[in-house]
Amino acid sequence: KKYILDLTVSFVEHINDKYVLIKLTCDTPLPEMLPGQFVEIRVDNSPSTYLRRPISINFVDRSTNELWLLIAAIGDGTRALASLSKGDTVNCVLPLGNGFTMPQSSSEKILLIGGGVGVAPLLYMGAEMKRMGNEPTFLLGARKASDLLLMDEFNKYGRVYVTTEDGSGIYDNDVEGMCQKGFVTNHTILHTCKFDRISTCGPKPMMMAVAGYAVEAGIDCEVSLENMMACGVGACLCCVEKTTDGNICVCKEGPVFNIKKLLW
Ligand code: FES
Repeated sequence: KKYILDLTVSFVEHINDKYVLIKLTCDTPLPEMLPGQFVEIRVDNSPSTYLRRPISINFVDRSTNELWLLIAAIGDGTRALASLSKGDTVNCVLPLGNGFTMPQSSSEKILLIGGGVGVAPLLYMGAEMKRMGNEPTFLLGARKASDLLLMDEFNKYGRVYVTTEDGSGIYDNDVEGMCQKGFVTNHTILHTCKFDRISTCGPKPMMMAVAGYAVEAGIDCEVSLENMMACGVGACLCCVEKTTDGNICVCKEGPVFNIKKLLW
């Protein structure tokens, strides 16, 4: 079931010049939402943006009835969202799309790989896994250390391995080599640990590299596609992806797909 709700901005944190964390709340309990699903927000404060913007669910805090959204201010729409302030009201359609496959047992080992703002849905996924008694492992990549987002939050739910492309953020007393220079697919954790499944979200080249690794290593893998979206409900066809089942709308049938379905 989808809801159209007016939510109130309860918290805004400008993490750096590009990323903003926004928390939204309402008077009634927020609906059930699955890790990997997204919301479509109507952008009211930008004259050039008429369509809703899809933003993945970063976290749902049931104790405070807050929905967290991590926003990368890169276009007019997301810049307008990033300029919201506490007390503003935003109209949201939620929850949309499918979700990541959750672990079936506490022993299933799942690696959550995120890059850039694509780390967003993995926080909620990791938190829900931990609540179900399954500790996630995170592998998060960024261009530089200051683009690693919400690290304190990720550390609450599981072990966090990190790569930075420029090698920043690597510290001397990191005896376990948790932080390494390069891309996520260069991290040695991929060779020293055996995982049952990888769930990933981030830039397409990163997800394609992760999918390639998973195929080679024989590991099941799900990706969350971030195709361009407009309507968010399967009407405009601008988010179409070619799959083994033909052309399908990422907004409706996805955004999460098993890589076996994709023609990458
Ligand atoms: Fe319109 Fe998917 S965004 S069909």
